[in-house]
Amino acid sequence: MKVLVTGCCGFIGFHLCKKLLDIKVIKVFGIDNLNDYYDINLKKSRLKFLKKNKNFKFNKIDICDDKKLNKNFKINKYNYVVNLAAQAGVRYSILNPKQYFNSNLLGFFNVLEASRSNKNIKHLIFASTSSVYGNSQKFPLKESYETSKPLTFYAASKKSNEVMAHSYSNIYKLPTTALRFFTVYGPYGRPDMALFKFTESIVKEKKLELYNNGNHYRDFTYVDDIVEAIVKLIPKPSKKDIPFEVYNLGSSKPIFLKKYLKIIENQLNKKGKVTNKKLQIGDVKKTHASTQKFNREIGKIKLTHISKGISNFIKWYLMHYKKK
Ligand SMILES: NC(=O)c1ccc[n+]([C@@H]2O[C@H](COP(=O)([O-])OP(=O)(O)OC[C@H]3O[C@@H](n4cnc5c(N)ncnc54)[C@H](O)[C@@H]3O)[C@@H](O)[C@H]2O)c1
Repeated sequence: MKVLVTGCCGFIGFHLCKKLLDIKVIKVFGIDNLNDYYDINLKKSRLKFLKKNKNFKFNKIDICDDKKLNKNFKINKYNYVVNLAAQAGVRYSILNPKQYFNSNLLGFFNVLEASRSNKNIKHLIFASTSSVYGNSQKFPLKESYETSKPLTFYAASKKSNEVMAHSYSNIYKLPTTALRFFTVYGPYGRPDMALFKFTESIVKEKKLELYNNGNHYRDFTYVDDIVEAIVKLIPKPSKKDIPFEVYNLGSSKPIFLKKYLKIIENQLNKKGKVTNKKLQIGDVKKTHASTQKFNREIGKIKLTHISKGISNFIKWYLMHYKKK
């Protein structure tokens, strides 16, 4: 069985490849353009780890390059595709929307095209986001709730992916599944996200900016729980007439950002030098996933306790950056 993971040098892509490689019968193929949105050395260290496994094969390809992408699909004859390559991040989309247009719209279109033209592909899974719910006031957020009012271009690009995929599932009968991830955290996590930024600021005794005075309420989800769910989903494409599905993937246990910070401070045994900042433009105040649909149709999502998840991150961070 051959699985392609795009964005394999990214945070979630790396963990997914690692998990798939534990299942010895799977050959894992990774694609990434290794862009410099954040520290490229972190991406390279993830790739170095994956390359130790003989069942992993890497190709440096930009999903915007349709010629290279199509050639790669033709040669490798994948059975399953998980598209995690994208320009991530809510705030950066305010500064650089074009980057989101390229990777998330054009790049995603190329992945759709390559997947429908290779008949061996049984299921295309791709990353969407909780941001598609915008400023919804009804919680927990269900897949059936309104998602037509995105607050940022990042959210708009991900909602567009869902809509594009639905049309491909209808016309070409390509089974596709959108996963709306809720704030994923864990070891090897992204330097632009709260856990990394808070930990780094506290360890280096630098100022730490707490947006919305820490009153964001977030459904933080541990990365192992996410990748375990994706592995369960891979062999279960929709069997409907239009084989398209959308699922939330979250912990369904939201906490306040200030509480998240407290846990980090307690575990590091050190206080952060906090500067309170107002709500940032484009930020939603609350996320809380309903995971009933995934639990019912695919299998129960594992729940790693937030203290355990943060402790795993801190251990990794201290080890990884001690070496540098
Ligand atoms: N981490 C989260 O909390 C979260 C939440 C919701 C949705 N998501 C989505 O999940 C996916 C994975 O997120 P992540 O946190 O691992 O982000 P990440 O930035 O760590 O990983 C994305 C990877 O894709 C690669 N990439 C970007 N554009 C590319 C292109 N045009 N061609 C080839 N490779 C490209 C990057 O180099 C990177 O290694 C993304 O689609 C993201 O939008 C993440």
